[in-house]
Amino acid sequence: MGARILNGNAIRDQIYAELKGEISSLAAVGIRPGLAAVRVGDDPASKLYVNSKIAACEKLGLASFHVTPPASTTTDELLSIVSDLNNRDDVDGILVQMPLPKQIDSKKILDAIAPAKDVDGFHPVNVGRLVAGRPALVACTPAGVMEILRRSDIPIEGANAVVIGRSDIVGKPMALLLLHANATVTICHSKSKDLPGIARRADIIVAAIGKAAMVTPEFVRPGATVIDVGQIVVKDAAQAQRIFAKFPAKLESFRAKGSVLAGDVHPEVAEVAGAYTPVPGGVGPLTIAMLMSNTVKAARMRRGSSVPSAAAVRPRCCASASRAGSLPENPWSRPCCATAIFPCSTPMPSPMNCSNQASLPTMRSCANSAARFSSRAEPWTARSSARSFSPMRRSARG
Ligand code: GUN
Repeated sequence: MGARILNGNAIRDQIYAELKGEISSLAAVGIRPGLAAVRVGDDPASKLYVNSKIAACEKLGLASFHVTPPASTTTDELLSIVSDLNNRDDVDGILVQMPLPKQIDSKKILDAIAPAKDVDGFHPVNVGRLVAGRPALVACTPAGVMEILRRSDIPIEGANAVVIGRSDIVGKPMALLLLHANATVTICHSKSKDLPGIARRADIIVAAIGKAAMVTPEFVRPGATVIDVGQIVVKDAAQAQRIFAKFPAKLESFRAKGSVLAGDVHPEVAEVAGAYTPVPGGVGPLTIAMLMSNTVKAARMRRGSSVPSAAAVRPRCCASASRAGSLPENPWSRPCCATAIFPCSTPMPSPMNCSNQASLPTMRSCANSAARFSSRAEPWTARSSARSFSPMRRSARG
């Protein structure tokens, strides 16, 4: 039997449909979540990525602010832009597109983004909260992978998961999310010995190394689930031929365009795996979907209990918790959806999070939770004073 294709586009569409409902309910009370995307300079790939993020905001009805300072921008100038965005009340999420020009201290910039608006989940506060198993805004790509696994009913609890790659953006948060979902997790990297042997023990492989087709069939136990985070533009004809020897349509596309997109996983893995994400159309669409989801979440988070419960819009995880009559011990292991107000993969800080409920057995529903925690101070609620936008060249939409 052929491997099951895990269709990222279909899962993205599901998430968007859920988000649209939530965005309408927020609009009904006068809230329009807003995302500010900062792109420094004119790098074509960054342009493409940021334009896709802005387009997704427009599709869903979120406000978007596209800030485009020149390539010569200094660290201090960019810090000033970030500070303005931190202080704007109409901006709920901020992303600074990476990579930045080399004169800019990227870490300083990422650290300057208010954690409550850090929809990329890169800020050390959010990373630390994820490590500690606390509610956090979580990096979009690994959060998207969790959505694929959960919505495809791939068993995670007790599974052996092997994450290949240890980047701050994907590998490390990925491993933590799988661990919080009760997988047994191994992280491999370029110095790991016998990578194929380790990977062959996995029920779930997540490949996030950025090396075209590195994960070959010998890495994969028959029936395993293989998630491919890689997106590499292959421009070398010999390499394209090696990777896509059995895929004439891909080779034809290479001949027509002079390049072809490959993942970290060799396409012949489909002959061995039980399920896999294709490239393109697998993990990629989820990254932007989770950015949208994080933006809506950040908007709710900043306003605490002054927004209506999303449970009325999308009751799936909340309803099941309620039906069960008790809440699970570990909020990260709940099989609920990303766009639910209390998602597992991208949980929200208190007061709007089920993790609070886990320690309060009297609470029976997420809707109740939001109301009951309404009087609690949210330690990282952003300031609400609206300040003028940055003097840099920019365009604002929405
Ligand atoms: N550059 C490549 N991927 C990303 C991403 O997910 N977020 C940001 N901010 N920059 C990126």
